[in-house]
Amino acid sequence: MSNHYRRIALILVFYGVTLVSSVGAAVPVSMTLGYDTDTLTDGIQNSHPHNLSSASSSNIHGTAGESDEVCKFCHTPHGGTAKGPLWNRGDPIGPNGDGTFPLYTGAAELKAIPEAQYNATVAADASLYPNGSSRLCLSCHDGVTAVGEVIVGGTLAALTMSAYGTIDLSSSHPISFVFNAAVEAALPPSFSRPSATDPVALDALERMQCTTCHDPHIDTNDGVYTLPMWRAYGSGATEAADYDNTCLSCHMTTPGAGVH
Ligand code: HEC
Ligand code: HEC
Ligand code: HEC
Ligand code: HEC
Repeated sequence: MSNHYRRIALILVFYGVTLVSSVGAAVPVSMTLGYDTDTLTDGIQNSHPHNLSSASSSNIHGTAGESDEVCKFCHTPHGGTAKGPLWNRGDPIGPNGDGTFPLYTGAAELKAIPEAQYNATVAADASLYPNGSSRLCLSCHDGVTAVGEVIVGGTLAALTMSAYGTIDLSSSHPISFVFNAAVEAALPPSFSRPSATDPVALDALERMQCTTCHDPHIDTNDGVYTLPMWRAYGSGATEAADYDNTCLSCHMTTPGAGVH
């Protein structure tokens, strides 16, 4: 997406506009995207799972008297850290209690490629795995770090992560590895880097992250369309195609290469 469209998309996200996607038939239902920052009493459904404010109707959110600032659980205009965009959260504690995470033990081919740097033996260095924006996600999704505690604002709400939202990296798709041209060349031909038109994103350092598949600002799960916060939302004719488009961005892109 060009910066221009990203900006428009963000503006829509901010004001919680109900959108019928411009891709028409590609999208089964019209959906409410983003946050409703409207008054607390107007009855507008405000169910984005990342709206943790007391104004929200999502599964996990503050109660009356706790914060109604929707962005503050993740961002702050003043006093933020450089870990992420004006980031208002501390580093994840992680299941080991020291900021490290048990990693997926598969992905043998990736581990053998030095340029990918994905190697469980160096996981003890918390700055390496997970890294980048995935650490931001895991500052709530590790299931340990207090969800409602932020840098500016202290405790905004007394919230803990659900079992549903707790992500175990030891049984999850590898993330935070570098996927540059050298890594692509070293992997079998059934893997390739996403092209510019693919509906997934590597980060600025060419790493796969949670944000390769998800966009934390867009609520795509309305119970009919079930892929959650799906970056590739509307990229195909059906939800199944949206899912395939994500995996096919990197997998089995050589005809006949077979299922890896
Ligand atoms: C649950 C956490 C969370 C909430 C709540 C949240 N954001 Fe974000 N936001 C993120 C993360 C994580 C990133 C970094 C994404 C990345 O690096 O790809 C981000 C990135 C951004 C960026 C940088 C541009 C971009 O899209 O990557 C802007 C601007 C932004 N958020 C604005 C907002 C605003 C305004 C709100 C409130 C309406 C908000 N965010 C609420 C997690 C959140
Ligand atoms: C940004 C690129 C990218 C995307 C998107 C992606 N993968 Fe992968 N995937 C990889 C790479 C690289 C590996 C490592 C392969 C290895 O080490 O053999 C991998 C590994 C795997 C593995 C094998 C793990 C193992 O133990 O060897 C499976 C299964 C897999 N991915 C499934 C999926 C599915 C399902 C999706 C879509 C929901 C998906 N991937 C999306 C790049 C990607
Ligand atoms: C401030 C805490 C916080 C941060 C940071 C955060 N999340 Fe969440 N996320 C939540 C909560 C709370 C839920 C709701 C869990 C539930 O309903 O059980 C959730 C739900 C989700 C869901 C499931 C949505 C659905 O429709 O079922 C996805 C996917 C998700 N988050 C991805 C991310 C990603 C990716 C990032 C980082 C870019 C991120 N989150 C950062 C708190 C956070
Ligand atoms: C390869 C794509 C991919 C990556 C990378 C990825 N997810 Fe997901 N995620 C999915 C899919 C697909 C689902 C829907 C459930 C399913 O099909 O397994 C999902 C579901 C979720 C859910 C809902 C709970 C559940 O188990 O269904 C949360 C929360 C979540 N992801 C958070 C994250 C976080 C945090 C990261 C990074 C640590 C991440 N995801 C990385 C594809 C991905």
